[in-house]
Formats: sequence, C-alpha cells, structure tokens
Amino acid sequence: MISLIEPLVRPLLRLLDAEDAHRLAVNALKFLPYEKLATEDPRLAVRAFGLNFPNPVGMAAGFDKNAEVPDALLRLGFGFVEVGTVTPRPQPGNPRPRLFRLPRDEGVINRLGFNSEGAEAVLRRLAARANAGGIVGVNVGANKESVDRIADYVRLIETFAPVVSYFSVNISSPNTPGLRELQQAKIFDDLLARVMDARARMSREAGTTPVLIKIAPDLTLNELDDLVGGARRHRVDGMIIGNTTLTRPQNLRDQAIACEAGGLSGRPLFPLATRMLAETYVRVESAFPLVGVGGIDSGKTALAMIRAGACLIQLYSALVFHGVRLVARIKSELVEELRRGGHAGLDELVGADAAAMTAEQWPSS
Ligand SMILES: Cc1cc2nc3c(=O)[nH]c(=O)nc-3n(C[C@H](O)[C@H](O)[C@H](O)COP(=O)(O)O)c2cc1C
Repeated sequence: MISLIEPLVRPLLRLLDAEDAHRLAVNALKFLPYEKLATEDPRLAVRAFGLNFPNPVGMAAGFDKNAEVPDALLRLGFGFVEVGTVTPRPQPGNPRPRLFRLPRDEGVINRLGFNSEGAEAVLRRLAARANAGGIVGVNVGANKESVDRIADYVRLIETFAPVVSYFSVNISSPNTPGLRELQQAKIFDDLLARVMDARARMSREAGTTPVLIKIAPDLTLNELDDLVGGARRHRVDGMIIGNTTLTRPQNLRDQAIACEAGGLSGRPLFPLATRMLAETYVRVESAFPLVGVGGIDSGKTALAMIRAGACLIQLYSALVFHGVRLVARIKSELVEELRRGGHAGLDELVGADAAAMTAEQWPSS
C-alpha cells in the first residue's frame, strides 16, 4: 500500500523543509496501513555476527533516531534496522535549519547534532517490541555536554543490551564537537576496553550482543591502521564504514547548499565510502565482517559496496530521492546478479574487488 501511495506523495514532501518532510515520513510510517512485501529470496540471506539477516539491505542510523517505527521499516523490506543515534539524556541537537537536500547531486547535508529523546524513551519503545522478531540494532552516542563520553557509551550498552540485536558504537558523527577524537588510537583503545567489558558483564543476563564500531570516511590511512588494529585486539564483532563526510567533492552541482556546515551523504559520498570500505577490508583480513554505507542508490552501487568488502549494506539518503520502493529494487537487482553469475549467495562476492580498489587513484574531494 505504502509503495503505491508514496510515489504520489514524495514530490509534495520535497516541497517541505527537509526536516518537516522527515517528520511527516516517520509519522506516515506509524499510521499508514502497510502490507508485508513479497517473500524473501533465500539467496539474499546473510549470516553475520551470529545473526541471521533475511537480506543484506539495512536502514542506516539517523532515520529512526528514537525507535518510533522499526517494525514498519522491517515490513517495508529492510533486512535490518539501525535505530538511533540515542544519547543517554535527551538533548535537542543543533538549531534549525540543520538538514539540507542537494537535489541535483542527490546528496544530503545534515548537522542535526544528535537530537535524541534520550535512552529512557527509546528503551520503553524497544522493550515493547523486544519479542516482535526482526533484526533491530541501536546506534549509541555521547551527550554533547558529557564530561566522560566513554561512560555514556558504557551506560547505553548496559541499558539496551537486553532489547536489541546489536550495537553500533558511533564515534564518527561530525556534528558533536570532539566526538571524532574518540577515533584517536589511545582514546579508542580505552573506549573499546570499557565498551567490551560492559558487553561481557551484560552477557550474563542478555546473551552476547554484537558490538560494531561505526567510523568516519574521513580518516587518514594511518588512522585507519590504528583503528583496525584496536578493533581486532579487542575482538569487536564488526565495523560500519561509514558515517557522513566533512569533505565536499569539487564536482558538486548544488554549490550554494554545499557550503552548509555538516556531514554530506548520498550519491556524492559513494566513491569515498566505497574506497574506505575496501581499505578497511584489506586490513581486517576477515577477522570480522563489515557493513558498507554511503551513497548506495541502486543494485549496482549495492553490489559494488559488497565487492569492496561489505557483507551487509545500509542506506538512508537515497530514500529521499527514490522512495521506499528502492529497497525492493535493490534486492531484486542483487538476486538477478547472483543468478547471472551462477552464485549461490552474496558471500561469494564479498571483497572480490577490495585489493584492486586500493590500488586505484584516491577519489577526488
Ligand atoms: C539526516 C541524517 C541523519 C543522520 N543521523 C545519523 C545518526 O544519528 N547516527 C549515525 O551514526 N549516522 C547518522 N547518519 C548517517 C547515516 O547513517 C549514513 O552513515 C550516511 O548518511 C551515509 O549513508 P547514505 O549516503 O545512504 O545516507 C545520518 C544521515 C542523515 C542523512
């Protein structure tokens, strides 16, 4: 039903301020009738971090920050949903306007700054749907005013472990001043030690909840070496590459909007995100699986991300320009690709191009 109505409504949404349109979309998902989409092709199934994903296409963090509609998103055909970023205490984020579309580039710039209803409100919603099935992870972040940011992550692990499928530890949002410093080797080591310890403590009552680290695409390769080294030492379950970028590719067409401060996502992010994923893949040496995110807007880009090293993918910005039917389209294009290549599953393609990609010229910014 929603996929029939949505193409009619989407042009109207685009007339609204981007943040108002987003709020309307979340509310529509709460109240519009929706039906389960066609049954999943078994060739799309992925097993990672001990979880069975019906398909590899996930909703990226930031769309459903407060866990209002995870089940509606699953019913739209996503294989998993990442809610958040959630901060321990509620906070309003940055002043509006703070979300901008770049229509000609199919990009988005945001400087929302972790607007969150806080852990208590989100816990209530996630606890209410804890037995509903489906893979719902929570992306956790620190409060802006926090003096001990690592303690915020620990508290969130303790809070959410019983009700989520996995954690995404977000140390890569560009919109909370100083947050990306958590990616510095020594601080990162301390963060991982305390986060993994909290996870181990919680495992007695909640089972072992996978911990994934979400990193920025703007790291130097030396910084990436350190991060991957730390992640391997502390035996994290996976990494998500990556968040929005502070860089602005020179060829952007919506130049006036490109000057807005914030993180850029969508199509212009794809070359950098894919390259950083490939760079991560060759460093991780299959120690843990990777999630690829940044500018995926078709079966072709999804497949390129998988071939660069992702066993799972996520998307957000492309939905603004292509609508929710994109999810079904990406899945059917992936199935077609598997059929054409005679592959039994996507795992045969993961990382196939990673080494070659790392030898290419660095994507221009
Ligand atoms: C409006 C908006 C809000 C976002 N909020 C978050 C967030 O709260 N936490 C997070 O880890 N990533 C956030 N992201 C980043 C996305 O999860 C994703 O990493 C990034 O947008 C790249 O994917 P895309 O090009 O498919 O959008 C946000 C992105 C957008 C566009």
